[in-house]
Amino acid sequence: MPRETTPALLIAALPLLLLAAAAPSTPLQDPEGNAGQQHAEEETKLAQQMLLIEDAVKKLRRSLRKEEQRDDSLALTVQMQAAALACKAETPTLLTSLGEEERVIQKNAYRLEMLGFLEQALLLERALLEGDQERAREIFAGLRDTEDPGHERFTAGG
Ligand code: HEM
Repeated sequence: MPRETTPALLIAALPLLLLAAAAPSTPLQDPEGNAGQQHAEEETKLAQQMLLIEDAVKKLRRSLRKEEQRDDSLALTVQMQAAALACKAETPTLLTSLGEEERVIQKNAYRLEMLGFLEQALLLERALLEGDQERAREIFAGLRDTEDPGHERFTAGG
């Protein structure tokens, strides 16, 4: 009977509804959640955060030329800081094949590198807030220079 069936169905579905509510939200770009799963196999969390750094760096290269784009530069700098903070907590894939002792040493070195990157990204924010555009550009140049040595040391591609 319809009057009985509907509440019974709702009660039966309740655990499922609760599970759905407790599950982490699906990213907007990926309503089905499939791409995320496929991506996770191909791309490490570190690589994903590195891509965010790359995106910010590309845009900062242009925005830092113009003082009137300071707000954009600040937002991109914060994006870069957040990504660098996330990177710092990760382990480069290359290190996972090392023996325990060497891995600990290399991970410490990697973490120090990312910490240095983050420190410079914070100083970039300071320079922007203090209105010192020239200093901001200097710091940015230094940040870009970390890429090649960082990749030579900590990625398989070098
Ligand atoms: C401006 C600075 C940097 C930029 C723009 C940058 C960008 C990138 C990009 C685009 C990738 C490839 C992501 C993919 O696989 O699709 C990557 C990977 C990687 N980067 Fe950077 N990077 C920078 C600095 C650094 C530094 C300083 C380090 C080390 C301290 C580093 C360590 C790595 C590692 C280890 C990977 C491989 C990810 C993995 O092991 O899973 N990067 N980076």
